[in-house]
Amino acid sequence: MALILNIGELVGIVPEGVLRKQGAEMSETGTLRNAWLRIAPDGTIADFGSMHTSEAIGSGTEEVIDAEGGLVMPGFCDSHTHIVYSGSREGEFLDKINGLSYEEIAARGGGILNSADLLNATSEDELFRQSIERVEEMMAAGTTAIEIKSGYGLCPEGEMKMLRVIQRIRENVPALVRATFLGAHAIGRGYTKEAYVQEMIDLMPRAAEYADFVDVFCDTGFFTPDDTARILEAGARYGLRPKIHANELGVSGGVQVGVAHGALSVDHLEQTTDAEIEALTGSGTMPTMLPGSSFFLGIPFGRAKEFIASGLGIALASDYNPGSSPMGDMRFVMALACIKMRLTPIQALNALTLNAAYAMGVSDVTGSITRGKRADLILTRPGWTLTRIPYTYQTPWIRSVFKKGRS
Ligand code: NIG
Ligand code: FE
Repeated sequence: MALILNIGELVGIVPEGVLRKQGAEMSETGTLRNAWLRIAPDGTIADFGSMHTSEAIGSGTEEVIDAEGGLVMPGFCDSHTHIVYSGSREGEFLDKINGLSYEEIAARGGGILNSADLLNATSEDELFRQSIERVEEMMAAGTTAIEIKSGYGLCPEGEMKMLRVIQRIRENVPALVRATFLGAHAIGRGYTKEAYVQEMIDLMPRAAEYADFVDVFCDTGFFTPDDTARILEAGARYGLRPKIHANELGVSGGVQVGVAHGALSVDHLEQTTDAEIEALTGSGTMPTMLPGSSFFLGIPFGRAKEFIASGLGIALASDYNPGSSPMGDMRFVMALACIKMRLTPIQALNALTLNAAYAMGVSDVTGSITRGKRADLILTRPGWTLTRIPYTYQTPWIRSVFKKGRS
């Protein structure tokens, strides 16, 4: 039990039962100035209120934290990452500087296949060690919920190794972790596409013992909407809801196939037409954009403002991976959203917290300041406002990060 007093601004307050925000709601967030917040012994938010009320006094037995005017907001939910990988792809970074595109690097046998070779040559313990370092880095930067994908094994044993490592991370970190089976990330070496798709379908029952979701890279040069549909149907037989990669390299039809299969999210969306907006309207699927990969690859940013203007919600995530977005700093994602996609800080906050929690199926337990939800919180240094976070995007700002009530 702990009581945080003298919070300059408590932002991200959402009524109980609101699981996502869409359209005009994206521009709203509950805010309380000069506030307190109490964390229950089980790590959930017990209550919060204004410093003028009598509850702003510690019980005598609880820890009291003086926020000294700092801002308190929900921790970031990173609903799309590939942080289990081995080594790095620095060589490709140089290729990219010298003018090669993501597709050209992949066509030369680099890219995802390069990470698969590295991963399959790395022991499970070493993979865990390298990956958990990235989780620590992300938590220090304010992330309190993380979705992690497989997809660098590209063979049954490699994929299972990744899923076991994700499980081990889940058991060893205080952040909330969800696992996604992305066997169809690229075609594994030595397979035809048809044989590989079948191999991943056959692996589904074993993968489903560890995974919460199923993902497919439905894009130009990777998997088609038909391949995707087959894999998603196999996933559904084992209770795996889709979260898919779509429309990064082309208008792939991935959004439509995702929506048709009840995807929780469709992610990337750098290339969309109005048909994608139409397909998403009225669905339960959260469009998720990954400005870190637009920035790193030099490809278009998603049309977030138009999506919101048309009444949709959006989520934002880091896509932390060695090939297209080698960083997991959600504050930088927020800055890119504001600077490059012209979202307001409040729209970006909703996209990085509640909507991202929705996109990983956890918005009933985290992603906002709501009584009964996990106390997954960021406490800033004194004097910070929401707008300053993406504005002075390199200035140290975090004082502590609470994961289920503990910092
Ligand atoms: O989300 N686009 C597909 N997958 C990842 C990149 C993976 C990689 O290059 O290693 C992404 O950008
Ligand atoms: Fe990705």
